[in-house]
Order: sequence, then C-alpha cells, then structure tokens
Amino acid sequence: MAPRKVIIDCDPGQDDAVALFLAMSAPDELEVLGVTTVAGNVPLELTQRNTRMMCDIAGRPDMRVYAGCDKPMQLEAITAEYIHGNTGIDGVDVFDPETPLQETHAVDFIVETLRAAEEGTVTLVPTGPMTNIGTAIKRDPGILDAVDRIVSMGGAMREGGNRSPSAEFNVLVDPHAAEIVYNCGRPVTAMGLDVTHQVLSTRERVARIRGVGNKVADATADMLSFFHRYDTKKYGSEGAPLHDPCTVAWLLRPDLFETKVCNLSVETTSELTLGHTAVDFWHVTDRPHNVEWTYAVDAEGFYDLLVERLAWFGG
Ligand code: RIB
Ligand code: CA
Repeated sequence: MAPRKVIIDCDPGQDDAVALFLAMSAPDELEVLGVTTVAGNVPLELTQRNTRMMCDIAGRPDMRVYAGCDKPMQLEAITAEYIHGNTGIDGVDVFDPETPLQETHAVDFIVETLRAAEEGTVTLVPTGPMTNIGTAIKRDPGILDAVDRIVSMGGAMREGGNRSPSAEFNVLVDPHAAEIVYNCGRPVTAMGLDVTHQVLSTRERVARIRGVGNKVADATADMLSFFHRYDTKKYGSEGAPLHDPCTVAWLLRPDLFETKVCNLSVETTSELTLGHTAVDFWHVTDRPHNVEWTYAVDAEGFYDLLVERLAWFGG
C-alpha cells in the first residue's frame, strides 16, 4: 500500500518536535510532502528554525520546510514561552540547522501542492494554530477536493482550557482559522486536551525513551525533561501531555484511539470565552457533525508505539 501523503503544519514546541520525529520514523506509512510552520508557541522565526533543527537531528536535511503566517488571521499573536522556554524547544541545545528553509511561503506551498494533487490524496496535520491552513482554504476553497482528511491537535471539551479558563491554546491563538478548518466539509479527526492529557510523559516513560539510545530519542528525552515542568506544577500530575504526537500516532495506529462523530463549534466573538470549542458529544443540538472527536487513548500502547518508532532511527 502506498504511503499516505501528508503535510504537517506545526509550531515547535517540544511536542510538535516529537510529532515530527514520529512522522519521519514511518516512511513506509507516511510520505511527508512538506512541513509548514506557523507562529504559535514561539514566533515564526523560531518555529521554522526549530523545525529545521529537528530535521537535522532526524537525519533528514532533505525535508522541505516552509515558513508561513507570522500572526493569526484577525487577532494579535500570543505565544507560550512560559511552557516551552524562550527557544520553544528548551531541553536541547540550539544550533544553526543545515536543513534549508524553502523560499515559497507555506500558504503558497499548501495551495500549490493541493491544486496539483489528485482528489482526496493529501492529509493535513495541523499541530499548532491553524492560521496557514485556514488562510489557504479561504484563498482557494477548491484545494479541499485534494484533502483526504485533516487530523488536528486543538480544542477541548471536559478538560476546559489550558491557556484561558475555556480555550485550548491552538484554537485560542487563531479561532477564526480553526472555525474555517473544522467547518471545511472534509473529514476532520480532532485531537483535543481530553485525549492528550491521557498521554503524560512520566519519568518512567521518559526513561524508556532515553533507553532507546540514539540521538533522536535522546533529544526527545531531553526536551520532555524540560517540557513537563509547567504542566506538572500546574496540574500536579507527573509529566507533560504529549499533545501533538497524538495526531501522527492516530495516522499510524488509529486503533489506539476512541472517537465519536459530533459537532464542534468555535467561539470567535466572546471576550470571556474566545477560542472555546463547544463539542456536542451527546448530540443535544442539530448542529452538523463536522468532526470525529477523539476522547480516549491506550496510553501504554501510545508510548509503546513512540519508543518503537524512535528506535527506528538506529542505535
Ligand atoms: O494546547 C496544546 C497545543 O498548543 C500543542 O500543540 C502545543 O504545541 C501548543 O501548540
Ligand atoms: Ca503545537
């Protein structure tokens, strides 16, 4: 079976970085057409640099990396250095990557790639604010014909907000883009905090990762050893939620997850609840069922997959 063609749109961020490693560890299952970067956890000049660093660490300087939007579609940018550190990938030493930055703007790459692709052949995997993808869809809705599915990290239902009392960070940063994506009419698998908070990077799991014994696994363990601090202090749990790798893990092993088709609507106007994702899990409204909401995961199976795939890089 031919590998699934994917475009990963991200804002590294330690958890985005692990999602990239997971995607690059599965060339038989995933053909990464390109990695597009967006302002999110840290500003765009850092998210694109961090992405290219991860490609170097993974031995993939051939990966095509694109810089996209440096601010949300309508709002001013907000960032999350308080979680990810000033580099966005605190835990690893920053270096000047060899992997080049493509000259094409990420939104142009998305539009041109989808225009040229056959119907239903490309999966979009946004793991940051959905500004690039929302902008591309708004510019040329016809590109959606080429989209097989969108597997997104964003939103929350029972977990409430992580950046505001009622909104998850990716959707809060750009609720207008998220609204476009969730309502684009193509199949959307939505990974929110409800499922990502079930896959905590505990000390035991980080030790398993470090035991793999290669530079990709070492970088992963180093980043997770920093990344957990904020969530551990805030929630009193041990370890940070591995948010973004849940998207790629679903592509590789959907059987690890439980999903339910329902409506997800985004609050785009209220100052109090801006970015809130109203998930109609119990179908109490007649709103269209626009997403497959992911609500459960086999956490041990998720980490078994991650450790197994990190070992793919050798060592
Ligand atoms: O709320 C978690 C999400 O926001 C993750 O994608 C993390 O990387 C940040 O982008
Ligand atoms: Ca992210």
